[in-house]
Amino acid sequence: MKELAKYLIRVDAQFIDGQIVPEIAPSEVMRLVNEPNIVVVRTGIPGQLLHNVIEATRAWAATVPPSEEADTFDNNQHKKRLHIAKIQQAPQLFHDHTFDAIMDLDEAHRQTLLAVFDPVRQFWNSLTSNNAEFGIRKGEPYFHPQVTHYPLGGSFFGRHWHPLNPQKVGTILALNQYGEDYHSGGTGYVINDHIVETEGFQDQGDMILFRYDLPHWVSPSSFADRFSWDDPRGRWVSILPFYDPWGAPADNKEPQGWKEQIKVANPDKVVA
Ligand SMILES: [Fe+2]
Repeated sequence: MKELAKYLIRVDAQFIDGQIVPEIAPSEVMRLVNEPNIVVVRTGIPGQLLHNVIEATRAWAATVPPSEEADTFDNNQHKKRLHIAKIQQAPQLFHDHTFDAIMDLDEAHRQTLLAVFDPVRQFWNSLTSNNAEFGIRKGEPYFHPQVTHYPLGGSFFGRHWHPLNPQKVGTILALNQYGEDYHSGGTGYVINDHIVETEGFQDQGDMILFRYDLPHWVSPSSFADRFSWDDPRGRWVSILPFYDPWGAPADNKEPQGWKEQIKVANPDKVVA
């Protein structure tokens, strides 16, 4: 365990038999997350498996036209987002690939994606004392596995937040390498009025953990590069949101209450 910067802590882990095994107990990891801190877990997932996820996602996306419809949360789709979120007014420009029906993918794509998403699913379950499986469950929270591409030349995601529950802890896994595959852009947070930028602190295979109601954003890729939706260069991450898409959305009021909520270490005691 190592303090990388104020409120930014790295936790080492081993990847054993397809499982992410942190050097400290999952309950200790969650204690750090809830203090709050941004915790970077060095998962040890082999780079080749992470690279394969990018390649499989691109190969799959080449066979499916980008969606231009409202999200239905019951399929596998990808979308070029250039948009200002209605409620939170967060601007965004990125290309996301959402595999709500991950188990319905063809065998090769499913196996490649699950080689990474399944360890993340099990790790998140261990952090949050859940036992959730992949698959669509109307009227309940369920997983929305996502691979996100931030193209060169000005992709970003503006400051926003999420309800704390049922996710409790957000996960952002780096699928490629800062300083080699891309040179700018990273996730930022605000904790106790202090800005925590993780750009440069997240290597390939590192998974950022954060309390889900912390305001956060993705800083832009450099405008010095030329933007193209079709250029695969840039930052690639995978995330594993867990929510009921038909449930109550986040309030348009930023959860300034988190300043008080954070004094309560156990998120179960927080009134959502
Ligand atoms: Fe977010």
